[in-house]
Amino acid sequence: MAAFNELVFSGVQPTGNLHLGNYLGAIKRFVEMQERNAQCLYCVVDLHAITLWQDPQALRGQIREVTAAFLAAGIDPKRSIVFNQSQVPQHAELAWIFNCVARLGWLNRMTQFKDKAGKDRENASIGLYDYPVLMAADILAYRATHVPVGEDQKQHLELTRDIAQKFNNDFGSSIQAHGHGEQFFPITEPLIGGPAARVMSLRDGTKKMSKSDPSEYSRIALTDDADAIAQKVRKAKTDPEALPSEVEGLKGRPEADNLVGIFAALRGITREDVLKDFGGAQFSSFKPALVDLAVETLAPINAEMKRLVADPAHIDAVLADGAARAEAIAAPTLDAVKDIVGFVRRGPALRAV
Ligand code: TYM
Repeated sequence: MAAFNELVFSGVQPTGNLHLGNYLGAIKRFVEMQERNAQCLYCVVDLHAITLWQDPQALRGQIREVTAAFLAAGIDPKRSIVFNQSQVPQHAELAWIFNCVARLGWLNRMTQFKDKAGKDRENASIGLYDYPVLMAADILAYRATHVPVGEDQKQHLELTRDIAQKFNNDFGSSIQAHGHGEQFFPITEPLIGGPAARVMSLRDGTKKMSKSDPSEYSRIALTDDADAIAQKVRKAKTDPEALPSEVEGLKGRPEADNLVGIFAALRGITREDVLKDFGGAQFSSFKPALVDLAVETLAPINAEMKRLVADPAHIDAVLADGAARAEAIAAPTLDAVKDIVGFVRRGPALRAV
């Protein structure tokens, strides 16, 4: 069996309104993977963004803003590879080949498509339907072994594993003939977890915090200043009870559970730890502590994002450098895939058969 080195890949869509869920569920954990010295690729997935209409001028700004958020949160573009998807053509190319591996029935089960397309499914773009196949291509163009994401991406990562498995099976003998052992693509591990795998809306603890919620008060944006953060936390929906001293006591209390989870993730501790300190406390004393912690964590990120977006030339240079380094990994993967599939291509085949 081919050995795969540990390689981390993840992506964030440049669709505006980056929020605390994106930070705690994903970006903060990207930094942790980098600090563990894994080889990491972090991608601003602009091809995914246009599956829903994006204003072109705004899109450019949003791509730079997500890049700024990565850097401001602590991703070092020298150690990790930071780039935008559309600059590396192998993503779209591999997605086409995977379109011919993935089955219609698999995509028909994707709940995110159903949510995003809503009732008017006939009018959704084909790209929106195909979104998870492009995601598989993002990950597997680098033969990534680990993918840190929020819980909402679980089903998409299962599809990525199915596509890898089917490709490995369908082309098994060609993979072996080209000297890649038994499987060409790794069966990628999703990294989903921690207290903020699913951060909920501040207005409704049963709904996910999301970029598209019409209420600004449902989310803390990474561009919010201290006053906005304080106001949103103060207004966050709660119930009238005091906080419990055990995690079990959060069951059936979605808003309390969410705020405790946010506190835990910001501080890098567990819900249990939070309740050791705040069990029995009223929200009137817990919320100010949460405001302080959120401001303390997010204010420096917010300030650094502002500084970075004011210098788009620097951001663009980071993305160009990252794209070149990403392509240097993805291009040989695509060459090998083309050989395995049986295409004739320029340059030497990895091994003639
Ligand atoms: P996007 O931009 O919607 O979300 C980016 C990341 O943020 C996480 N997330 C959350 N985590 C916790 N609580 C929330 N309320 C919350 N909302 C969002 C998402 O799970 C995600 O990790 N499809 C991906 C982008 C993508 C991708 C990839 C990810 C494209 N290709 C390849 C990994 C690997 C997405 O949802 O982005």
